Amino acid sequence: MNPKLVAVVARSRNNVIGLDNGLPWRLSSDLKRFKALTMGKPMIMGRRTFESIGRPLPGRASVVLTRDPGFTAEGAHVATSPAEALATARRLADLMGADEIIIAGGGEIFRAFLDLTDVIELTEVALDTPGDAHFPPLDMAHWREAARENGLRGPKDEVDFAYVTLKRRRD
Ligand SMILES: NC(=O)c1ccc[n+]([C@@H]2O[C@H](COP(=O)([O-])OP(=O)(O)OC[C@H]3O[C@@H](n4cnc5c(N)ncnc54)[C@H](OP(=O)(O)O)[C@@H]3O)[C@@H](O)[C@H]2O)c1
Repeated sequence: MNPKLVAVVARSRNNVIGLDNGLPWRLSSDLKRFKALTMGKPMIMGRRTFESIGRPLPGRASVVLTRDPGFTAEGAHVATSPAEALATARRLADLMGADEIIIAGGGEIFRAFLDLTDVIELTEVALDTPGDAHFPPLDMAHWREAARENGLRGPKDEVDFAYVTLKRRRD
């Protein structure tokens, strides 16, 4: 099996994905979607994102990227280069029978894997907001919008949002 690389990200209008190692908005519906998209799959994430979540997420395998060879985290796999993270995630995908590897962020990790990413499951957050972590700029010559759905705002969603699937153009 050759699993696809799928980035799952919520991004503001001005490209912000994080502030002070957390999310700059409260969107409960999007967290549920994140869970549904990632369940049963290996996820590659940066050490900072892993620490902001605080634990390996149940039902998924976490591969944490760090340059610190001494880093350990109970219940998570550690890699010190993107190539090692990918090799570990591929092995885990095989073991889990998963056809996707999730690129879970944050900004540095989305950037490191962008050229290898096949699909971006994007949540467009209808905000302009300050932040210190950003999604890398996308050259839309390489991407096509394969699906778009307006988010249905629930009581625990503080802002409007839309779900967009971007697929890498292969032509
Ligand atoms: N909105 C969203 O969808 C979303 C998703 C995920 C995260 N976030 C947010 O994004 C923010 C975190 O993003 P971030 O860019 O600050 O950090 P990050 O990408 O989560 O993690 C960065 C860390 O990854 C490690 N790393 C990066 N490149 C590496 C490489 N080539 N080789 C080995 N290790 C490497 C380094 O760890 P060491 O320092 O340990 O060496 C680096 O400090 C938080 O605010 C988080 O809440 C948002």
